[in-house]
Amino acid sequence: MALIAVAGCPGAPGATTAALALSMTWPLGEGRHVIMAECDPDGGSVVAGALRGGTPGPHGLQNLPVAARTGRLNEAFWRQLLDLSDGAKQRLVLPGLTSPSQAPGMQSVWPQLADLLAGIDGSAQHDVIADLGRRGGSDGAASLVLRADLVLAVVRTTLRGVHHAEHRVRALAEDLDARGVGRDALRLLLVPAGPYGAAEISDRLSVPVVAELPFDPKAAEVLSDGADLGERRFRRSDLMRHAATAAEHIHALVLRRREQLAPRPAPQAPAGAAIPGGTHAAR
Ligand SMILES: Nc1ncnc2c1ncn2[C@@H]1O[C@H](COP(=O)(O)OP(=O)(O)OP(=O)(O)O)[C@@H](O)[C@H]1O
Ligand SMILES: [Mg+2]
Repeated sequence: MALIAVAGCPGAPGATTAALALSMTWPLGEGRHVIMAECDPDGGSVVAGALRGGTPGPHGLQNLPVAARTGRLNEAFWRQLLDLSDGAKQRLVLPGLTSPSQAPGMQSVWPQLADLLAGIDGSAQHDVIADLGRRGGSDGAASLVLRADLVLAVVRTTLRGVHHAEHRVRALAEDLDARGVGRDALRLLLVPAGPYGAAEISDRLSVPVVAELPFDPKAAEVLSDGADLGERRFRRSDLMRHAATAAEHIHALVLRRREQLAPRPAPQAPAGAAIPGGTHAAR
């Protein structure tokens, strides 16, 4: 159904946590799946964080450049995914780069990966939530932003958060406008942690707010650092309950936008109607 890009901001972290929380609560219809793709050029943190290093081998983005050069990107992509859903393979993760030094090797891969992720639904019924990190989604990786159904900027409602978000959000909006997608694809995902309200921030950044995720350090640490809160407490945490609501809103917004943006069929002339300036159809 969708490719959703999640952009963080320097000085106001939360992108990876938000992308994971949304992936773990994303509404899945019959036979559907979701992939959290760590497309952060500064390196991924899911393996060392949420997965506590417990993976069955070196999976991740760093394996894609060689495959892309030899025309085997699609095949290699599916082999990199790890299961977040206890064997059900409904919620998957594509681990990110293990070091920022691998980012230059991704420059020519990002556009191909963006094509793959944006087209994945047609072939395999997967939604994708891509974590762009705090500076990702530019240069080669701009294609991830341009191919996305929705771009979410995660913004903390502190002075520092809003200050940094201004630059990041403006750059994303200008890119979307310049490449003909339009800034209407951009939304704010707020983490209330400071004095500013949603309306005020939305006004300031000229971007609508799609949802809020609470400031909930204990639950956030489970996703960012693999902390152990107990399955039940984690699932019932403020963060995960609000993430489920946010995921519903985002899912519904994507569907609405897809409907609005879908090419409309040309209106059919009613049977027997006269063609203006022409003749009546012969019987
Ligand atoms: N909603 C939240 N409430 C409280 N703490 C949060 C929340 N989201 C993230 N954090 C905390 O902020 C820190 C950074 O989170 P995270 O790794 O998600 O940020 P990031 O934007 O991905 O950062 P980076 O750019 O370094 O990848 C972690 O300690 C995490 O637990
Ligand atoms: Mg991150």
